[in-house]
Amino acid sequence: MYNVKVSPLGIMENKSAIDNWVNGIAEQCGAKNIHWCDGSQKEYDNLCDLLVRKGTFIKLNQEKRPNSFACFSDPSDVARVEDKTFICSRRKEDAGPTNNWMAPEEMKHILNNLLTDSMQGRTLYAIPFCMGPLGSPYARYGVQVTDSEYVVVNMKIMTRMGDEVMPYLQSDNYVKCIHTIGAPLRPGQEDVKWPCNPETKYISHFPEERMVISYGSGYGGNALMGKKCFALRIASVMAREENWLAEHMLIMGVESPEGEKTYLGAAFPSACGKTNFAMLIPPKEMQGWKVTTIGDDIAWVHIRKDGKLTAINPESGYFGVAPGTNYETNPNAMESMRKNTIFTNVAVTPGGDVWWEGLTPQPPKNLIDWHGLPWDPKSGKPAAHPNSRFTAPSYQNPAIDSEWDNPNGVQIEGFIFGGRRTTTVPLVYQSFNWNFGVYLATTMGSETTAAAFGEVGKIRRDPFAMLPFMGYHIGDYVNHWLQFGRDLPMTPRIFGVNWFRKDEHGKFLWPGFGENMRVLKWIVQRIKGQNSAIESPIGWMPTYKDLDWSGLENFTKDDFAKIMEIDRELWKKELLSHEELFEKMYDKLPKEFFFMRELLLSSLWRSPEHWGLQPE
Ligand code: GTP
Ligand code: SPV
Ligand code: MN
Repeated sequence: MYNVKVSPLGIMENKSAIDNWVNGIAEQCGAKNIHWCDGSQKEYDNLCDLLVRKGTFIKLNQEKRPNSFACFSDPSDVARVEDKTFICSRRKEDAGPTNNWMAPEEMKHILNNLLTDSMQGRTLYAIPFCMGPLGSPYARYGVQVTDSEYVVVNMKIMTRMGDEVMPYLQSDNYVKCIHTIGAPLRPGQEDVKWPCNPETKYISHFPEERMVISYGSGYGGNALMGKKCFALRIASVMAREENWLAEHMLIMGVESPEGEKTYLGAAFPSACGKTNFAMLIPPKEMQGWKVTTIGDDIAWVHIRKDGKLTAINPESGYFGVAPGTNYETNPNAMESMRKNTIFTNVAVTPGGDVWWEGLTPQPPKNLIDWHGLPWDPKSGKPAAHPNSRFTAPSYQNPAIDSEWDNPNGVQIEGFIFGGRRTTTVPLVYQSFNWNFGVYLATTMGSETTAAAFGEVGKIRRDPFAMLPFMGYHIGDYVNHWLQFGRDLPMTPRIFGVNWFRKDEHGKFLWPGFGENMRVLKWIVQRIKGQNSAIESPIGWMPTYKDLDWSGLENFTKDDFAKIMEIDRELWKKELLSHEELFEKMYDKLPKEFFFMRELLLSSLWRSPEHWGLQPE
């Protein structure tokens, strides 16, 4: 067992201070009563039963999906709402050009009115929770109040919560998370299956006060506040002050046939492959290679005393994208959600099981779609919402890493950044050094996905896959990364990947999923100094012979040349488009970036024959 220190404060002593805060909110919100969550299985089961009685949860077939439930959200409440998400720092300057900002007093004035009597007719649940292994020096604590039972049961899976957290809570060391669905129940009024506020939503962060107030939504990152609100937006502010990193990254372990283990962090934007990569199963021909999961969405990275980096996963469950997940693309996710799982906005079969696009080639007959209505396969509309999700406990993942709950974290030796790019960006490349890596991560582009409300498929700059999750000014964020690197005796290697490049017919050029192991192997070997690369204008790249093709011999040298191609004209445009982002950061743009862009541009003028990417 790990050696963990418990706070000397007793449970009762802590609780009374926090009680005052909770009681005050309950009073203002007009809650019917207060329930302090103990985090027990019994409490979870009772709340699930209550959700079934309310009609929110459908109990799934006990044999097929033991202790699992499905539910359908309001159509206005299906994803994160970026245009309703605010960073209410005291100074506008501190929120920067990429965040919505409102003065704290102004936002509090609005919320004050909205919160008053917002919980009428409902129970207020107080959830003490811990982000990170309990008692870890890197763990942080929070208390979320919410009037949604759905949120409580999801928080039970996603975080360590309840009585076990109380000994660590002190009156001043927790992030205050206030959540209401904004749907008061007046006397005599009947409840709906997914109460929320269809018109008004505010996800507001007060970084200096370590407080978040979320109004009107019951879905995902808007409502499960340990996740994006706390572990990314608030934590990124803490991390800058305390010299660590809070990132939208998976953490994976990669074991070589010789038994050598390498841990990596990888940042891909929302719905761009983190869960799948974190649970990767290598092709059977790549014998002896093994991938294990520490986390699939968020990483907190600290500098150890010896100058090496260590990372923890602050979460304890997966809130994973359902569509596209099946026993071929991601068997470990399928096993993780075999039982004790909450499905949101998937389709339900007549036999009480779940279905979504991509689960099987043919949909089963007589599906109930995510609106809760009989689905017409000819309607042209999906049966499951594109951002439908499963909430499943980490420990059910067959590939869970033995160290996933280690309070000291795992040593990180490399970072990978990757967006969803139909054109331009090659399969893999290695940054020349830390600063170039920060440049590539900052300027990363990606096509928007259904994980956020709004248009899908539009390319935008998504720096570090953190555009929607930075709690402060993007310029300060980038400078923090640069400074972080300056402090390290040996910087982790940084790589770029793109699994999503397509041919002129719209077909993926790369098989992806388990086959990504071939790229991962090269990355790990590069980190260990065991494989070669050639210099390209944008970084070091493998040639065909540098990758392991056993079992994928039909992927030819020509195919490889195509997916690795750096089209000079497209890259010229790409580099010029960085200017747009830099313009926004103008007063805080690191001076290095100006030179790096020039250097990249001028490197493009080497003849492509010399880029060495031709098939050998
Ligand atoms: P968030 O939870 O929103 O942060 O997303 P994520 O980054 O964990 O994305 P996830 O792994 O859930 O993948 C999102 C979608 O991309 C799913 O529909 C996957 O099937 C698909 N996907 C994941 N990896 C690959 C890949 O290697 N190739 C292709 N073509 N699709 C992939
Ligand atoms: C994401 O959008 O990056 C997610 C899902 O991981 S949510 O929790 O809704 O933010
Ligand atoms: Mn995410």
